[in-house]
Amino acid sequence: MLNTTPTLYDDVAEVLISEEQVQRKVAEIGARICADFAGEQILIVAVLKGALLFLADLIRHIDLPLAIDFLAVSSYGAGTESSGVVRILKDLDETIEHQNVIIVEDIVDSGRTLDYLLRMLRQRNPATLHVCTLLDKRERREIDVPIDYVGFEVPDAFVVGYGLDYAEHYRQLPFIGVLKPEIYA
Ligand code: IMP
Ligand code: MG
Repeated sequence: MLNTTPTLYDDVAEVLISEEQVQRKVAEIGARICADFAGEQILIVAVLKGALLFLADLIRHIDLPLAIDFLAVSSYGAGTESSGVVRILKDLDETIEHQNVIIVEDIVDSGRTLDYLLRMLRQRNPATLHVCTLLDKRERREIDVPIDYVGFEVPDAFVVGYGLDYAEHYRQLPFIGVLKPEIYA
């Protein structure tokens, strides 16, 4: 029987990075973090909400003692353009002093969010501070920020899926894709 029920997948114009590619890369990054921090404990600071899926998969590839804490920051509201203003909606629960902190982000775009977070967290005296992002939209960078672990470079297009949203939707797609233009309009 023909299924004509509309689904989220109908809104996708193109899959940029497939589920298999994402999963392979996440495993690779986890293995690198394991090797780089062998013998150490780490504290993962995940940036809500976009990093949620990446975090959940990544930690399953990190065979080291680790703790997780969350930060929530304001980003784009319902649009696709940054307001340029970073606001902390939820701060960390615990101190990061003397710990090996790895910030886990979904995507670095202008770099404003990460720049703000790095400044804020450095003041709290972690032993080490590293950055891990699934996606890097390098073409759009306005502020130069150091990134230690990058999954994929993506072109200057608004992407959704694997945690990334458009107006809070599409986070559950297991791949990274671009929506049809009429969805953004
Ligand atoms: P930045 O401060 O401009 O680097 O933007 C970082 C934040 O903007 C990310 O953590 C995302 O939440 C959001 N963002 C940037 N580009 C995209 C995109 O293409 N799709 C979904 N969210 C995005
Ligand atoms: Mg977002």
